[in-house]
Amino acid sequence: MQSATSEVTRSSTTPRTARGVLARYAEFLPLTAATPALSLAEGDTPLLAAPRLAKWIGVDDLHLKYEGANPSGSFKDRGMVVAVAKAIEAGSTTIICASTGNTSASAAAYAARAGIEAVVLLPAGKVARGKLAQAIMAGATVITLDGNFDQALSVARDLARDYRVALVNSVNPHRIAGQTTAAFEVCDVLGDAPEVVALPVGNGGNVTAYSEGFRIYRDANRSTRMPMFIGAQAAGAAPLVHGAPVANPETVATAIRIGNPASWKSAVNAVTSSGGEFSAVTDDEILESYHKVAELEGVFCEPASAAGIAALRIAVRNGRVAPGMRAVCVLTGNGLKDPDRAVPESFAPAILPADAAELARQLHLTRLS
Ligand code: F0G
Repeated sequence: MQSATSEVTRSSTTPRTARGVLARYAEFLPLTAATPALSLAEGDTPLLAAPRLAKWIGVDDLHLKYEGANPSGSFKDRGMVVAVAKAIEAGSTTIICASTGNTSASAAAYAARAGIEAVVLLPAGKVARGKLAQAIMAGATVITLDGNFDQALSVARDLARDYRVALVNSVNPHRIAGQTTAAFEVCDVLGDAPEVVALPVGNGGNVTAYSEGFRIYRDANRSTRMPMFIGAQAAGAAPLVHGAPVANPETVATAIRIGNPASWKSAVNAVTSSGGEFSAVTDDEILESYHKVAELEGVFCEPASAAGIAALRIAVRNGRVAPGMRAVCVLTGNGLKDPDRAVPESFAPAILPADAAELARQLHLTRLS
């Protein structure tokens, strides 16, 4: 009797040993017997209660979904593992993407893992160095284009249409399918969907995926509600706020420096059907949140990721979000990717003598009695 019960329990839950989103969420992903079991143990990222940041934002109950803990340091890995596995299943040996950095880092990593080729198209001069390092180290063919992300994506789409190369940007539906797993994890940990989810929006793929993920879970009776989405865009790259493409997007949050989102329609549907809003946040507001989340919670995210925090704070102030609503901020990427942003150019610490008594004096330490 005892063993029969535990047998049932085991078969109806995820095995403890299963790593990576293909194994953990197979039932919700477009997998077949021929899909390779690709994994870098992506997903299963921390959902951290953040009481000190909550107070600064003005909400009672805040969690941070720290996607910087993924293998390549961003949420892209969830979708990339599915996109690359499906590309291989379809017979591809080369993948291509345009990227502001994170997609290229992820594509390069999964292509290396799978033993196939990756070509990444980057806008000149605007990619954080850590992301560039990742693509180079994984052996991707790194091409810098004289153009912005929107132009690079246009070229990548043309190449994938006319040549033997698989496109792994989020216009590939397998990317979106993989990224739905983040919403599943949030529900699995909280026991239901939160009431509000704030996240940065660039090309619009991730907010589309969260919306689909929460809907899939609700329809499967794993959760009871859909959250309201607060979609954060940088003020200098806010086409979804203005309702028109931006020809020359500019922001310190280079990951979301996008003027003409490929998933425009589905992103707008996700946000408007949720009763939420797109919000433009200034670079100063982004950087303020970037510092606050690190100082108040010890969580180092990249600037784009902090845009969601800034937008949630504004939404609380303007009354769109009530303080009692359970909120999740998605921190999409790891702060280590963009160290140049974190370390001020003026940072030139005084070099002190290696002497304990002198340090104790400088640090105003109290001597043990
Ligand atoms: N946050 C980070 C850290 C990103 O890298 C991106 C997108 C987003 C948010 C926005 O997500 O595009 O799905 O709305 N980065 C892409 C890239 C464009 O090439 O790495 P989205």
